[in-house]
Amino acid sequence: MLNALVRQSRSIRSFKAGEPVPRETLLALCELARSCPAAMNRQPLKYRLVDTPEECAILQPLTRWAGSLSVKLPPEGREPTAFIVICHDTDIAEEKPIFLYDVGIVTQTIMLGASERGFGGCIIGSANPQAVAEALALPANIIPKLILGLGVPDETVILTEAEDGKVIYYRDEEGTHYVPKRPLNEILL
Ligand SMILES: Cc1cc2nc3c(=O)[nH]c(=O)nc-3n(C[C@H](O)[C@H](O)[C@H](O)COP(=O)(O)O)c2cc1C
Repeated sequence: MLNALVRQSRSIRSFKAGEPVPRETLLALCELARSCPAAMNRQPLKYRLVDTPEECAILQPLTRWAGSLSVKLPPEGREPTAFIVICHDTDIAEEKPIFLYDVGIVTQTIMLGASERGFGGCIIGSANPQAVAEALALPANIIPKLILGLGVPDETVILTEAEDGKVIYYRDEEGTHYVPKRPLNEILL
């Protein structure tokens, strides 16, 4: 059911070592993205798959994880085993804010698709697009927008009801990650 899938699809920041995301899975996720709504149906988004240990090792240090926590995430040896870098192709359309909605739509669609298949991941906005483009030798017309770090989840994430507007995520001593969400009655206007 969609409700269960949406609740299950949490930001995962620790992954099982040596458990790759098969190329067919990454392609299936891009196939999902391809079917998403797109502003004016221009479809300027392109996807760079990163799934070799060598390229993952190049990309990982360019990403910043869980800035609100003082622990190092992902833990050493628990990094994503694949990434999808969502990019904008300026040969198709110039960059405009409207296309960022496309990025959001495909991002959540890919995350749900990954979760449905037993994988998990984290959306990474904290990365320098220029550094990512250089590291992956992307041509000048391909601009990285968001990075999805993917793998087999190796941690527990629990949704909670935010109290008194406190929405900062936190971890307990066992490393279980809690994500407070604002209650329904607080988000309705
Ligand atoms: C646009 C966007 C950018 C994000 N960038 C990062 C990031 O750079 N690093 C990170 O660890 N998490 C990042 N996240 C994940 C959020 O921190 C996460 O969605 C939030 O804590 C709520 O947790 P949940 O996804 O389990 O609901 C990002 C999420 C979104 C939607």
